[in-house]
Amino acid sequence: MEWKNREGYPDNFLWGAATSSFQIEGATTADGKGLSVIDVMEKKADITDFSVASDHYHHMEEDVALMAELGLKIYRFSIAWTRIFPEGNGEINQKGVDFYNRLIDTLKKYDIEPLVTMYHFDYPQALVEQYGGWISRQSIDDYHSYAAFLFKTFGDRVKYWLTINEQDHVIRFSSRLGITEGSYIEKMWLGYQANHHMCVATARVIETFHRLGMKGKIGPAVSYSWIHPSSSNPADVLASKDAALIKNNYLLDLHCKGIYSKAFWKYLEERNYTPKINEGDMELIRQNPPTMIGVNYYYSETAEAFSANDKHPIGYHKETPLPTAEAGIFKIIKNPQLPATDWGWEIDPAGLRLTLRELYERYEIPLIITENGIGAYDKLEAGDVVQDDYRIDYLQKHIQQIQLAMNEGAEVFGYCAWSFMDLVSARNGMQKRYGFVYINREEFDLKDLRRIKKKSFNWYKEVIRSNGEKVWKN
Ligand code: BG6
Repeated sequence: MEWKNREGYPDNFLWGAATSSFQIEGATTADGKGLSVIDVMEKKADITDFSVASDHYHHMEEDVALMAELGLKIYRFSIAWTRIFPEGNGEINQKGVDFYNRLIDTLKKYDIEPLVTMYHFDYPQALVEQYGGWISRQSIDDYHSYAAFLFKTFGDRVKYWLTINEQDHVIRFSSRLGITEGSYIEKMWLGYQANHHMCVATARVIETFHRLGMKGKIGPAVSYSWIHPSSSNPADVLASKDAALIKNNYLLDLHCKGIYSKAFWKYLEERNYTPKINEGDMELIRQNPPTMIGVNYYYSETAEAFSANDKHPIGYHKETPLPTAEAGIFKIIKNPQLPATDWGWEIDPAGLRLTLRELYERYEIPLIITENGIGAYDKLEAGDVVQDDYRIDYLQKHIQQIQLAMNEGAEVFGYCAWSFMDLVSARNGMQKRYGFVYINREEFDLKDLRRIKKKSFNWYKEVIRSNGEKVWKN
């Protein structure tokens, strides 16, 4: 719809930016930290010097001062589980606790609300070695003990908590579960078992959050790509709906409604992916829905129908990290209407508006955008200048669409751009930069790790100062 009148952002809207521990902190073994599956995986991949990342561990005060200069109202960061419990369970590492206490206190000093992700891909390697990690039910207890410790230790200052970041990605990238062997099908089945355990674990953590009388909100951060049909052919429309179910909606149906929808369960059955569900699991999940949903949105996708045949029977898939095709359901194709980033992610601000409306209409739970941004090959020019106009353009158009979705009834209470500073991309090393702040290093040449404000830094500062009005002006 087009509107004659536009309502502005509410005064208490939480303007923010986000990062995650393994992507910025570095210091992967400092002060007693244990190894995570990401530490092990990145070491093998050897595409960047990951052990230093943006060296936030040693630049924390300077980085938070820059956040304050930017005017952030909220900062999303994750706690590295293995800094707190180096083995995933058992002994606590006080130095890790001290680091996050210092970070939270520094944020509070500047009136920046901390938004804590409890687990962002960096699962303790030791738990994989002890009992297989998320594929064992034991993982539920250990995640719950870790979360309860965080509530008791930081809950006096932290109001907003994200339980698990992008659970769907964790199960589809088997290395993030610590699984290195097995066929695609075996890995998918284990993935759905892990997914079930994560849902039960999340519900237990939410139950404890309420039992402890914690103030604030809690919920998962999900990745969501809006899925368009490739044409008005009803077969393509059905393909886009089914792709949305399998890639996105199944997970929030579980978290928010406590159900495996009938179509999704049948999908799991036909592929032999069904997880083992214990008595009481579904009831526990149903009784403990999230009180907020974090939305990570970068791009939309476009699906066309993909009929099963002899060559590609039902269950066929490409061996790709995220399903881009499943015979008998859908195939993701390029959308000729949309521009794309250097990594082929299709830029679609209206897709974010559609996403927010869809999620709020489906679940009626308050939303916060926990990631949104553009990865690019930024260039540092003479005089410490980074002219990232493409980032300003991307963010401006997305922030406009959020406001329109809110005008149309979606309850959104905050926005965290990805990312506050350059970080090691989850898949593409340091060359793919996202931040408002440039970190002066290359993949292996660590240079001086100097912090440099990009053009987008000053632009976003003005967006926050004007409570969003800046996005409607050139
Ligand atoms: C999300 C993750 O999947 O997307 C982030 O939560 C990640 O950790 C972001 O950085 C962008 O992906 P990538 O692979 O470009 O870093």
